[in-house]
Amino acid sequence: MTQTLALTMPDQPNQPAHPDNPGGRAQRGGSAAGRPKGADAAGLVVTIDGPAGTGKSSVARLLARRLGLDFLDTGAMYRAASVLVLDQGADPGDEARVAALVAGANIRFDWTTDPPAILAGGSCVAHRIRGQEITAIVSRVAAIAKVREVLVAQQRAIAAAHPRLVTEGRDQGSVVFPDAKVKIYLDASPRIRAERRAAQLAEQGVRADVAGLEAEIARRDELDSTRAAGPLVCPADAVRVDTSMLSRDQVVDELERIVLSRLVAGADRGEPS
Ligand code: DC
Repeated sequence: MTQTLALTMPDQPNQPAHPDNPGGRAQRGGSAAGRPKGADAAGLVVTIDGPAGTGKSSVARLLARRLGLDFLDTGAMYRAASVLVLDQGADPGDEARVAALVAGANIRFDWTTDPPAILAGGSCVAHRIRGQEITAIVSRVAAIAKVREVLVAQQRAIAAAHPRLVTEGRDQGSVVFPDAKVKIYLDASPRIRAERRAAQLAEQGVRADVAGLEAEIARRDELDSTRAAGPLVCPADAVRVDTSMLSRDQVVDELERIVLSRLVAGADRGEPS
């Protein structure tokens, strides 16, 4: 794989975006001469969808870094929306109020930081989005169709400004970027996902009951996959990868192989990349 890794060239250093620009300016590119077949400045969107606990965020971030692409964590946007709900004391079931809060808050990333920081209502909320009180309400906030409309529009604006992107979520390949060049769906058994979560918590000194975590994961899967707007589905043209028996590095290797082989196959068919 090593000779095909360099999807970007170092002749175009990152160009930080202005924080007020929702997408920011495209950060990476490359000269045609050094670019492998199947990857040009026209853009390359790689979508990674799947349920919680499959290791999506970390492997998506690592894959983006390996391939020299930007990385978009769309779950962070729904979590930032949930911070607003919590701070305003809104009921997550009050769809009109939550939608109005999100529409007025300009949820976006500051691309000048690494990793890009998530902002809501002008404030950085990155340090709060993984908290338990946010995790407890985010599925309900993410199920609100009008919230999704606003954030999906924002995600497309980000991709327009960062056309070489690995984007991770639940609906990226199915709804947000149906024409993405490469679509991946990560899965793992609920038990394995619960065990991974328990191990993460143990690292933070928190003891957790695996059976309880498994039940919580099943509850979130159910909410995410049965909602009317942007439900969690495996797109028909996605490559499904079961991460249950794979280490994080093995998953990243596999995803890299999938991306590169799709690019080569597309180039062989004469598709613009
Ligand atoms: O991936 P995560 O755990 O940070 O996602 C948080 C929540 O947001 C989770 O309930 C699923 C939801 N989500 C979504 O509905 N659509 C996305 N594109 C990303 C996340």
